[in-house]
Amino acid sequence: MITVLGASGNTGGRVARRLREAGQPVRAVGRDAARLADVAGIGAEAHVGDITDAAFLADAFRGADAAYVLMPLDLAAGGYRAQQEQVGTAITAALGAARVPRVVALSAVGADVARGTGFLETLHEQEQRLGALDAQVTVVRPGLFFESFLPSLAAMQATGVHHDTIDPAVPLPMVATVDVGDAAGAALLDPAAAGVREVHGPEDLTVPDAVARLGAVLGTSLRYERVPEDVMRAALVDAGLPPDVVTEHLAMNAAFNDGTVHSLAGRSPATTTPTSIEDWARSLVAA
Ligand SMILES: NC(=O)c1ccc[n+]([C@@H]2O[C@H](COP(=O)([O-])OP(=O)(O)OC[C@H]3O[C@@H](n4cnc5c(N)ncnc54)[C@H](OP(=O)(O)O)[C@@H]3O)[C@@H](O)[C@H]2O)c1
Repeated sequence: MITVLGASGNTGGRVARRLREAGQPVRAVGRDAARLADVAGIGAEAHVGDITDAAFLADAFRGADAAYVLMPLDLAAGGYRAQQEQVGTAITAALGAARVPRVVALSAVGADVARGTGFLETLHEQEQRLGALDAQVTVVRPGLFFESFLPSLAAMQATGVHHDTIDPAVPLPMVATVDVGDAAGAALLDPAAAGVREVHGPEDLTVPDAVARLGAVLGTSLRYERVPEDVMRAALVDAGLPPDVVTEHLAMNAAFNDGTVHSLAGRSPATTTPTSIEDWARSLVAA
C-alpha cells in the first residue's frame, strides 16, 4: 500500500494515477471525498480527513510500504510559517511512528538553502526533518510550477500585462505539475530511489518569455512588467493575500533574482521533463 497525500491536488493526483496504472494499491488522502472521486474511480482507496488531525494522519500511514508527502498551503490558517511547521512536523512524526520505510517528498529547487529564500525556507526545514527519519527518502525538487501563473491569469487576460518582481532577464526552470507527479510516481515505483531528484521542465524560461508563450496559446497578447517590491506588496495585499505570505513571495523572487535559488544538478536529460508551457496552456484551454 502506498499512501499519497494531496491526492486531489496537482502532483498527488498524478502520482496516484501513475501508481494505479502500475497496479499498486493506493491510499489517497484529501479532505473532500468528491475531490478524490477521480482517483477513487481508478481504484484508489479514498482516505478522507485533515492531515492536521494527528489520529487521522497516523491512520493514513498505518501499514504503508511507501508514502508521497507534500506541504499544502493554507492561506486561511493565519501565519504561513506556523502552518508549515505544524504540517511538516505532524507529517514527519506520523511517518516515523508508522515506520514507513520509503518516502518521496515534494520540495523545490532552492530548498538546499537554509535562509533568504522566502517560501522555500519551510521546504528546507522539512527536508531536514525528513532526513532524520529512519527511512529511505527521495526529495523531489521541481522548479517553478506553470500553475503558479493561474492566480493571476484572469487579471493578465483582462489587462494584457503580468506584474511581478522577478528580473525579466533571469531564466528559471519552469515545469508542469504533471511532470512533477510523474517524477514522484517513478521514484515511488523504484525501490532503489533515494536522494534528490530535480525536475526542470523542458527548458529554462524567463518570465516575459513564459507569459508571451502562454498568451500565444490562449489567443491573447500578454507581456510582463517588473514592478518595484513596494508596488507589488501593496497590490498583493490589496488583492487579499496575507501580508506575511506577500513577504515570503517577494523574498523568494529576490532569491531567484540574485541567484540564491539555483539548480544544483543542472539541466541534463535526468532533470529535463517533456511538458512545454504551450502543452500546459493547451490543456488549460481544453479544460
Ligand atoms: N508553486 C510552485 O511553483 C511550487 C514549486 C515547487 C514546489 N511547490 C510545492 O508544491 C506544493 C503544492 O503541491 P500541489 O500543487 O501538488 O498541491 P495542490 O494542488 O495545491 O493541492 C494540495 C493538496 O493537499 C490537500 N490538502 C490541503 N490541505 C489539507 C489538509 N489540511 N488535510 C488533508 N489534505 C489537505 C488538498 O486536498 P483538499 O483541499 O481536497 O483537502 C490537495 O489535494 C506547495 O505547497 C509547495 O510546497 C510549489
